[in-house]
Amino acid sequence: MYLEEYFEEFNKLVRNRGFYWLSYEIYGGVAGFYDFGPLGTLLKNNITELWRRMFIHDQRGLVIEIETPIITPRIVLKASGHEDNFTDPITECNKCGRLYRVDHLLEETIGVKAEGLSIEQLWKIIREYNVRCPEDGGELTPPKPALLLFKTEIGPYKGSQAYIRPETAQGIFVSFKNIMSVVRDRLPIGIAQIGKVGRNEISPRQGLIRLREFTIMEIEFFFDPLKTWNEAGKYLTDELLNEELNILSAEMKEKGIEEHITATLKEFLDQGMIVNPWLGYWMAIGNKFLKRLGIPPDKIRFEEKLPHERAHYAQQTFDQEVYTKRFGWIEVAGFAYRTDYDLNQHIKYSKADLTMFRKYERPLEKRVVKAIPNISRLKEAYGRKVGEILKALNKLPNEVIIEKLERDGYIHVDGYKLDKQYFTIKEEKIKIHGEKFVPHVVEPSYGLERLFYSVLEFSFHHLADGRNVLKIPIELAPYKVAVFPLATGSSSEHKRIKELAIKIYNALVDAGVKALYDESGSIGRRYVRADEMGIPYAITVDYQSIEDHTVTIRFRDTREQERVHLKELYERIMELLGKKVNWKTILRKYDL
Ligand code: ATP
Ligand code: GLY
Repeated sequence: MYLEEYFEEFNKLVRNRGFYWLSYEIYGGVAGFYDFGPLGTLLKNNITELWRRMFIHDQRGLVIEIETPIITPRIVLKASGHEDNFTDPITECNKCGRLYRVDHLLEETIGVKAEGLSIEQLWKIIREYNVRCPEDGGELTPPKPALLLFKTEIGPYKGSQAYIRPETAQGIFVSFKNIMSVVRDRLPIGIAQIGKVGRNEISPRQGLIRLREFTIMEIEFFFDPLKTWNEAGKYLTDELLNEELNILSAEMKEKGIEEHITATLKEFLDQGMIVNPWLGYWMAIGNKFLKRLGIPPDKIRFEEKLPHERAHYAQQTFDQEVYTKRFGWIEVAGFAYRTDYDLNQHIKYSKADLTMFRKYERPLEKRVVKAIPNISRLKEAYGRKVGEILKALNKLPNEVIIEKLERDGYIHVDGYKLDKQYFTIKEEKIKIHGEKFVPHVVEPSYGLERLFYSVLEFSFHHLADGRNVLKIPIELAPYKVAVFPLATGSSSEHKRIKELAIKIYNALVDAGVKALYDESGSIGRRYVRADEMGIPYAITVDYQSIEDHTVTIRFRDTREQERVHLKELYERIMELLGKKVNWKTILRKYDL
């Protein structure tokens, strides 16, 4: 089947079954905005919950989650560098006025990778290759940067300028001080946030891949740069170190190599290809996460960004990519080593103290020479002015006073000329217990909608008999079971079947199972619908059920069926959903 037809089927399914559709459709729709229907919302929530499970819950206290506002005062994004750097280059067709993002246009038309090139370099390529408007061959204007931030105002009248956040990270950096006091200055620590962001993308055309409003799930992971390897070593278990990753490094890209290499995290760290062990830590977890979303390992890779491709704040960045049938490799997450860039910027702009204290193992002893004011002499000479003089002296660093006294024999303080006789010069030993430092940050940042698209694309199967099945991983399936009465006529037997099915449905809902009841159309049609909705198990109540309280369970992926007694139904469903916990096995794991 041709890819085009295949995706026509895919599009029909996601729309008809209520996964997603273009927003504001009755007004013609607006590019870059999508609604999520009932099934889409459930699937999105399940992806988010799996992310929370792997990146927060399973981290056993290493990561906490917060929530900060979407509307962001201008100063915050000025300090972070977004106001000056968060731009993409655009060009306009002189004939039709269409706008293009230049790097994307060059990649699509002449296959040149141009991400991160300067405006001058892009213009040179346009002229060299005589690139023109793909729609009507019109000439293109010289590129210029377009700011991707959405502007707004806080306050309805003469409001102050603000932006919609383009990432959730800045909300975390600016509340760093409060968070640290809550966690009692604990490092290392990951601060997670999930939320909507806005980016005024130039001409989004790839459905869920390029949205103007989307959801980011990210962690800012803070650590002491001098203790990096030591501390990360305690968390890098063998399981993580043995995780196999596919990497296309910056060096390989520069040599024109397009095929990634596969090795364990340990090997990549040993070879220095991943510069920071915390970056590697999160990449390994990210790899496991995508596999659990149903993405085959060979369709996942990390592409290292070249220096000019990296965001303004990053020292090393890997894009985690998924190979989709429709769009080729797409970025689903950025793993960036942001160093102390952001906190330093906010220290500079807000004047807040966002530093932490690094305690020395043993205090350092230091000799200091101190100039101690002789108060009784000062009093004799200056009477009631002494208070004022002492206050002014206090504001001067000790070294400055010493230096002046030694060089000139006097010092000017608040208009008074004080000579040496007013001070006692003393040498003292002091203990220094530690020093201030700004923590470094590693960030895994996921775009939820791109994950959502990837899950759907990899789940979608168009079978030879024309049927479509969404083989969504069980833990992500929007509904876990469907309940069908086999017959729904008006005979008394049919009524009893229906009554029993409704009771079973209610019982499952009470037990917390995400179940769907459906009685419309033939049973065959209902199985088709359930398959298209990705429901892994369908429970059917039939004639035998009203006699002996057994029902059938049909498996979405194999179409096989088994018969179970109602008494065992819940247990069996839990087992199939992988939710049956064996506490004894867990105890054994921890040698208890
Ligand atoms: P791109 O190069 O595709 O524009 P980016 O490098 O700007 O993306 P990041 O700033 O790293 O992306 O954003 C973090 C994540 O957010 C990305 O990995 C991606 O999954 C998601 N994302 C970014 N832009 C969009 C968008 N316009 N629509 C949907 N998801 C997006
Ligand atoms: N927080 C990373 C990004 O969205 O750019």
